[in-house]
Amino acid sequence: MVISSLAVPVVGAPMAGGPSTPELAVAVSEAGGLGFLAGGYLTAGQLAGQIADVWNASSCAWGVNLFVPESANTFTSSYAAGPARLDGDLRARAVSKYRECLLGDADRLGVELPEPVAGDTDGWDRKLDLVLREKVPVVSFTFGLPSPAVLSELRRAGIETVVTVSDVEEAEAAMEAGADALVVQGPDGGGHRGTLDQTKEASAEDLVDLVAAVREGTSIPVIAAGGISTPVRARQVRDAGATAVQVGTALLLTPEAGTGLAYRRALKDPAHTRTAVTRAFSGRLARALETDFVRQHDDLAPAAYPEVHQLTSPLRRASAAADDPRLMALWAGTGWQVAADVPAAAVVRHIAGED
Ligand SMILES: Cc1cc2nc3c(=O)[nH]c(=O)nc-3n(C[C@H](O)[C@H](O)[C@H](O)COP(=O)(O)O)c2cc1C
Repeated sequence: MVISSLAVPVVGAPMAGGPSTPELAVAVSEAGGLGFLAGGYLTAGQLAGQIADVWNASSCAWGVNLFVPESANTFTSSYAAGPARLDGDLRARAVSKYRECLLGDADRLGVELPEPVAGDTDGWDRKLDLVLREKVPVVSFTFGLPSPAVLSELRRAGIETVVTVSDVEEAEAAMEAGADALVVQGPDGGGHRGTLDQTKEASAEDLVDLVAAVREGTSIPVIAAGGISTPVRARQVRDAGATAVQVGTALLLTPEAGTGLAYRRALKDPAHTRTAVTRAFSGRLARALETDFVRQHDDLAPAAYPEVHQLTSPLRRASAAADDPRLMALWAGTGWQVAADVPAAAVVRHIAGED
């Protein structure tokens, strides 16, 4: 098993949207940790190119992360009647109302907002075929629970599977479905919270308690994620039972990461004093630097991923192209202020307490 026998128990988080690169995945794995490519948002062809780059650069184990679309998510939530749940027409209407709220920003930036496509699968079938064909050593999933059939097909191909969960109920479901390992994601992490049901309010339980609670019910490897930016915190979650820790934000400023310049500047800008969890950018809960856009749109965005992601995408792109972070999704965990512009291997060693 790859995860239970890492030389250094640090996983480089998959970070879709640019920060994850083949160079970053290789650097983390070559440092003894486990590097990841982020398959989300890429076309299958783009992901194939990145996979080839990693195979060519390293013989260490590494992984690919995929977003599970709603149509392939087999998780049945006990939160079925939660307040954020929107079905059918209600969902379409809430999305169209949010679209209207964004028109002013779109005008200002000179971009068109798309008509969202609710059933978009992010190329799920093609990406699954790709990771199977390429025999990627580890495949992790977020946003949903793949079927037992998918997980066992990957396992038969010799691929280790990891499912991202955010509470004990989800962990139990993932184990039952046949996951080889879990990413247990706490409330402090940067980027999306990988809840298996996008409409529920994610657990606010501290990561240490969450890991201990999940650990009680399982013997499979647990990777703890969310707000881990110091060796002390890494040690705490490992003492609670985590096999390894997964760090994202701590790697954002490394030279190997593909983090854009405006995003890098924002992470270092003392004008940003806090992060916030918001649905404003994608419809899913995610932690980002708190900006005016977040403050103004947080209450308005419906729990409708991927439609909200599609709606804000041209705004985020135009903002990044103008080198202006104001409408960008500046994903960051609570430990963002200690992220440093140092090689990824140094971050891996530091988090592991080896420097
Ligand atoms: C910029 C960014 C992008 C992310 N993209 C993904 C992703 O594509 N897939 C995924 O499973 N997690 C993603 N995450 C969440 C990470 O896997 C991880 O849970 C999180 O980074 C841990 O918290 P930290 O950022 O405080 O270290 C992302 C996080 C960030 C900061």
